[in-house]
Amino acid sequence: MTSFSHEPELKLDFATPNDARDISDIWYECFPEKFLKKMFPQIPAVQQWWDDANTFDMLNRPAAKYLKVTDLAANDGKGKIVGYAKWFVPVDGQKPDFESRFPPWAQDSNKELCERFFGHLMLERRKSLEERQHYYLDMLGTIPAYQRRGVGSMLVGWGTNLADRDGVEAYVEASDQGRAVYAKHGFQPLEPFTIPGEDFQVTCFLRPAPK
Ligand SMILES: CC(C)(COP(=O)(O)OP(=O)(O)OC[C@H]1O[C@@H](n2cnc3c(N)ncnc32)[C@H](O)[C@@H]1OP(=O)(O)O)[C@@H](O)C(=O)NCCC(=O)NCCS
Repeated sequence: MTSFSHEPELKLDFATPNDARDISDIWYECFPEKFLKKMFPQIPAVQQWWDDANTFDMLNRPAAKYLKVTDLAANDGKGKIVGYAKWFVPVDGQKPDFESRFPPWAQDSNKELCERFFGHLMLERRKSLEERQHYYLDMLGTIPAYQRRGVGSMLVGWGTNLADRDGVEAYVEASDQGRAVYAKHGFQPLEPFTIPGEDFQVTCFLRPAPK
């Protein structure tokens, strides 16, 4: 675990459009895998696409909840965002929306691969949940220097507490690093699957509704 010259003071808040660039920086720092970079090369146009997509969702989609954890003591007290999550939450009177996770793909992204990858994830989620309301953890990242300090748990716990309150399930497509966090928070692994045409295995986790 990284040691700091200050004692981190972690705070959970909703993120705002002003945080969009920090959030996409964290995404690129947390997800260095070649497969993901193949879909979303880290070039200005694609990072701008992330910023715009996240900003649009923050401003226009009541189901999309962006959370950030800030170390208030970092940068000589100026603060630094060290992790974020995007949850999709149930909205009264609306069926779960499996289709519109992302806007049209960025011009310079690998659109065919994005479509194949995220299209397959969407089909699997729909197969697991059918039309049942659920909390969906769409993104989660803690920058490496702050990992294993409870940041991920703060972000996951926000959604799982609400899922319990509402008596519904929660769902996530887990990375290898994410599995332990999800298991700790009561998620259970489903059967792994491979993305068609790719050597990339995915395990989704479902968290049952409370009895
Ligand atoms: C997954 C991730 C978000 C975890 O964030 P984090 O802030 O380190 O998580 P926490 O400190 O809250 O960890 C909570 C618990 O999860 C488990 N855990 C977390 N990281 C772990 C690891 N690398 N190995 C084993 N267990 C781990 C532990 O039980 C931990 O509790 P403990 O530290 O008290 O033992 C972070 O590793 C990350 O951003 N990874 C890269 C991006 C990614 O894979 N995101 C998930 C997408 S599905």
